[in-house]
Amino acid sequence: MKKPKLNAAVSGFLLAAMVMNSAWSAQEEKPGTGFAWKEGAQIYEKICAYCHEANVGPQIRNRDLPAVYVRAIVRNGSRAMPAFRSSEIDDESLAKLADFISQKVSQH
Ligand code: HEC
Repeated sequence: MKKPKLNAAVSGFLLAAMVMNSAWSAQEEKPGTGFAWKEGAQIYEKICAYCHEANVGPQIRNRDLPAVYVRAIVRNGSRAMPAFRSSEIDDESLAKLADFISQKVSQH
């Protein structure tokens, strides 16, 4: 894969995230649940991998990061790491995502 130009990639992502976010809010009217993601791997691929597999953010898989730490960073952000609200990633999905990231990856 070609490496994207970082600044353009990040601002492009943020723009896309805002657009997607308003589309989601329009479609998903279930109160309190937000958009229901299917599983941790899917969320990671669609959201986190954009930065964390592209050297924008540090590697987060296979590092034994505790799930509770991953959840806290995702909700609160950390310097260059954007925070995600429960309307973007609901609590249940975030739990699945954090479990997915904290799992050891077996050999491909
Ligand atoms: C727009 C790019 C971007 C996206 C999208 C993103 N991150 Fe990050 N993330 C970063 C950056 C940059 C850092 C490093 C923050 C710093 O220390 O300045 C980071 C840091 C982290 C850390 C702390 C890593 C450590 O070494 O302690 C965790 C955990 C994390 N991200 C999880 C996630 C998860 C889970 C997702 C998907 C929901 C995600 N990030 C999506 C950019 C991103």
